[in-house]
Amino acid sequence: MKAIVYTSNTGTTREYAELLGHHTGLPVYSLKEAKDMISNGVEIIYLGWIMASKVQGYDKASKQYKVKAVCGVCMGATGSQIKEIRAKNHISEKTAVFSMQGGFDISKLHGIYKMMMTIMIKTAGKGLAEKTDRTPDEDVMLDMMLHGANHVGGENLKNVLDWYNSEIDKA
Ligand SMILES: Cc1cc2nc3c(=O)[nH]c(=O)nc-3n(C[C@H](O)[C@H](O)[C@H](O)COP(=O)(O)O)c2cc1C
Repeated sequence: MKAIVYTSNTGTTREYAELLGHHTGLPVYSLKEAKDMISNGVEIIYLGWIMASKVQGYDKASKQYKVKAVCGVCMGATGSQIKEIRAKNHISEKTAVFSMQGGFDISKLHGIYKMMMTIMIKTAGKGLAEKTDRTPDEDVMLDMMLHGANHVGGENLKNVLDWYNSEIDKA
């Protein structure tokens, strides 16, 4: 693995990329920066924020680099949505897939993304608020929608770090 490459909109994916860089010692680049910093075809770990199960920037990254692991940063719980992420992004079984809970801050959104999430809060948020048997994960999600939150934390990188260390041992 030569680098960590990421696409972030409001900053939480960048925070995870930097944390992962800190723990692995790998250099960290945004997908834009990576163009000038690493050669095509090198092995990378890719992180992108999730929009409707699509890992933003993954299509482009997978054409340029050998993506060994994909990390989707989302509002959902860490470790959730793995099957959907793999299917929706056509990620082969050879590539590891992880998800990490990021954050939500409507004040950092603009244009179409702000409109989409305003509607989402009114529909999905209202549905969750009215639900009487919310799971703990749904409580967290509702709180994020209503008040905003940042759940970035090193503990959410455990699975990806375990995978990384096992890859290093194999090499
Ligand atoms: C337009 C839009 C759509 C989103 N769709 C999803 C989604 O389908 N599932 C999910 O868990 N989170 C979804 N999110 C939440 C983001 O993935 C989450 O806020 C993430 O932490 C953003 O990463 P960033 O700070 O790097 O931009 C969506 C956010 C936006 C703005």
